Amino acid sequence: MVAHKAGRFAEAEAGYRRVLEVRPADPKAMYYLGLLHHHRGDTVGAIGLLRRCLALAPSNAHAWNTLGGLHIAAEQPGEAREAYRRMTEAAPAMGEGWYNLGICLRDEGDIEGAMESLRASVVNQPDYFRSYEALATLLYRLDRVSEAAEVYREWATREPANPTARHMAAATSQQNVPARAADEYVRSLFDGSAKSFDADLERLGYRAPKLVADALTTVLLSPSVGTPVVGTLLDAGCGTGLCGPLLRTRSVSLVGVDLSAQMIERARGRGCYDELVVAELSAFMQSRADAFDAIVSADTLVYFGALEEPLAAARVALQAGGWFVFTLERKAVESEAEYGLGAHGRYWHAENYVQQAVVSAGFAIEVLARETLREERGEPVAGLLVVARLRVS
Ligand SMILES: C[S@@+](CC[C@H](N)C(=O)[O-])C[C@H]1O[C@@H](n2cnc3c(N)ncnc32)[C@H](O)[C@@H]1O
Repeated sequence: MVAHKAGRFAEAEAGYRRVLEVRPADPKAMYYLGLLHHHRGDTVGAIGLLRRCLALAPSNAHAWNTLGGLHIAAEQPGEAREAYRRMTEAAPAMGEGWYNLGICLRDEGDIEGAMESLRASVVNQPDYFRSYEALATLLYRLDRVSEAAEVYREWATREPANPTARHMAAATSQQNVPARAADEYVRSLFDGSAKSFDADLERLGYRAPKLVADALTTVLLSPSVGTPVVGTLLDAGCGTGLCGPLLRTRSVSLVGVDLSAQMIERARGRGCYDELVVAELSAFMQSRADAFDAIVSADTLVYFGALEEPLAAARVALQAGGWFVFTLERKAVESEAEYGLGAHGRYWHAENYVQQAVVSAGFAIEVLARETLREERGEPVAGLLVVARLRVS
């Protein structure tokens, strides 16, 4: 096992085989020899050994769990589901077995079965926290928001330091709604989704980067401005850099800032940005006085409720006459409130409030247009496109 851990596979295999020569029915040696096969890329061989191990030790829940994982790796979802089912029978108190079974059922389209299994996970092991999120997400997708709120609240009570539990409990229950999303929540959300972000958003018909890039191009090329290129341009909340290729030709120097290091790594891979910084965008803009001719922010200020903080920071970072182009989400039905936190976890803003906040921060509004940003649960997401220009004082 020491050799195995150190990656000396031949030596480890010889060791396991020696044990099996002496004790041919040793389930532990079979288990580790199986894992070794997998680590060497032979997942089918590993599954055979795990099955032999489990024939000898059918109550070994960890081995059922490993077998499930091997079947997932071998793209055999039905076999994985049955292995996890056996795990729940062997160790009903282990939340992980119920969770894994629930995820398999969800991925196979058995949503009721998945929710039953995830509920069993939180009942049997209330501190197995992954199950709360998976269960609440399914409830939200089915539009059972108040049930999702209960699950998030329970999770937040049991794991109060978890930023996702806190944020989503507020979003779904409308209680203790913060003025903006906490940095830890944003970081955890986007570090976790960076890998699949571009593909996910493409599926949802995501338009925000094109909206801000086109809007910036239009104002720059207007007869009163007449320059296709600004000197310095900031992409605030640049994410994976989807705006980068659209903005590169609009600027001499293109800077990106984002809270999520994982998103920034992907933006770096595009090779469009002159500088990329992992930081909170308001703090970053405050630290770069008069540094930019224009700032764009696509689908990012939706993580702010009150807009005064980022607007004041943009005012500091922009040169007089500079442009601030951004998108927001808009509540499709009329509301008295200035902004609110939607059950999905992002903020919406009322048009009147946006207008008033932008003007009070020292900008003139050039464009305030209703736009569709993308889809969510098959419905268009109502948005606002704002083009504001810092007044010369
Ligand atoms: C929905 S993504 C949009 C990314 C990119 N603008 C695009 O259109 O593809 C929102 C991004 O904003 C970032 N973000 C949210 N709040 C932030 C903040 N306060 N400071 C810096 N980045 C933030 C997130 O980390 C995430 O990468």
